[in-house]
Amino acid sequence: MRGMKRRHAIAALSLPALALPAYVRHAPAADVPRFGLGIASGHPQPQGMVLWTRLTGEQLPDSVDVTWELAEDEAFQRIAARGTERAIADDAHTVHAEPAGLLPDRVHHYRFTALGQRSAAGRTRTAPAPGARVGRLDFAIASCQRYDVGHYAAWRHLAAQELDLVLFLGDYIYEYASSPLALRAHEGGVTLTLDDYRRRYAQYKSDPALQAAHAACPWLVVWDDHEVDNDYAALQGQNLQPDFGTRRSAAYRAWWEHMPVAKALRPLAVAGGSMRIHGSLDWGRLARIHLLDDRQYRDVQACPRPGRGGSNTVPLADCAALADPRRTLLGADQERWLAGNWALDRPWNLLAQQTLMTRFAWADPARGASYWTDGWDGYPAARQRLLGTVAERRVPGVVVLGGDVHAHYVADLKADFDDPRAPIIATEFCGTSISSLGLAQERVDAARGFNPHVHWARADQRGAMRFRLDDQTLDAQLLVVDNARDPMSSIGTQARFSVAARQPGALPG
Ligand SMILES: [Fe+2]
Repeated sequence: MRGMKRRHAIAALSLPALALPAYVRHAPAADVPRFGLGIASGHPQPQGMVLWTRLTGEQLPDSVDVTWELAEDEAFQRIAARGTERAIADDAHTVHAEPAGLLPDRVHHYRFTALGQRSAAGRTRTAPAPGARVGRLDFAIASCQRYDVGHYAAWRHLAAQELDLVLFLGDYIYEYASSPLALRAHEGGVTLTLDDYRRRYAQYKSDPALQAAHAACPWLVVWDDHEVDNDYAALQGQNLQPDFGTRRSAAYRAWWEHMPVAKALRPLAVAGGSMRIHGSLDWGRLARIHLLDDRQYRDVQACPRPGRGGSNTVPLADCAALADPRRTLLGADQERWLAGNWALDRPWNLLAQQTLMTRFAWADPARGASYWTDGWDGYPAARQRLLGTVAERRVPGVVVLGGDVHAHYVADLKADFDDPRAPIIATEFCGTSISSLGLAQERVDAARGFNPHVHWARADQRGAMRFRLDDQTLDAQLLVVDNARDPMSSIGTQARFSVAARQPGALPG
């Protein structure tokens, strides 16, 4: 084990953020790794996708031409598209290339060249044409990859599976400073400025398993709170900092720079500036994937602790604001957009969002059932509106996918969680963290009796969820690593569930 950690540490020495010895600084440019943060692809469309990289190494000119190639074969003999992008210092030398005019539903291979060096090659694909009959979709959901408390063995295993998509549901980085006891400490303190966030992304992206997962298939990405600040809500930070809008715009800018998302999303450096990341993608006639943003437009959390913002855990009786029907998690515009975006002509609607949607009452020995105000339990009227629309319009195959809470949850979503006979409207799979620590399992177990609609709740293991979807069935595999502190950990299956098309609700096995 010690040997593995040492090898990993040596690999990380090529990072630009580390102080390099003088002989490295003066080495010829060709010896400096220029693709030290890997490559990525994302947001596939029927005719294209986004290809991403960020140039590394010292003495980068302000502007560097980066060529990219996209081929139908691994040997790059049959080139489908190629082009040149300019990587500029203003964008941290990141590249967002957008090949167009490709054939739908095809695997492609891509690579970059710059400053006399060629990147590793990645595998990506186009989405099926919107009207195409599609046999199946293989994908994974993942979230919460706090670097200083764990390794990314889960990514190493996911990279080896031939997935069509990874849905990354938030907490790509964590903004914290590390404790002196950290497994692999964050460089620098709490991230506040654009430079801080850029350095943090660079450190995370130095991880070889994360690079492999990006290179293996295209990702759809949304953010949660830690890409900016724990528990932030719209323009309110958790400590009610007066300059939060400036910090948020730096964080959003760095997120855009480092994610394989459209070039057109590039935000202006305006304090409090917004950035639309919600949208949807059709996987042929099989599924519509809706991507939501539950951070940027939400009302602030109800009933916070005195003198601060962010989350709390409170009984309903102590918090009248929870019952306020005007409060929203998505914001009025996004709520309206989603209500009009459900696919009624496809068997599945996958709702990729950040956190746990099901009602989950916590057992408080003194005060009875209590609710965590940062998740959907803090916005019960908004949840009711969303599920109400699904029920009323008979939206087919709604499967809610989430992360954030560092536990594998599988639940039935109901119109009334207190009525055992209330109909099941949708099914929820909320995946555990890649590495971030979870709550004590005893606390989760103590709450199970309050929540009979929850089929599975395990906070004690790290991992991801893998899905296979066809027009009849969704199969879910709850993956967990044996030891998230070991980069070479094995992986296993904690549980399996399935959902039948036209029959909401999770079935074991
Ligand atoms: Fe998290």
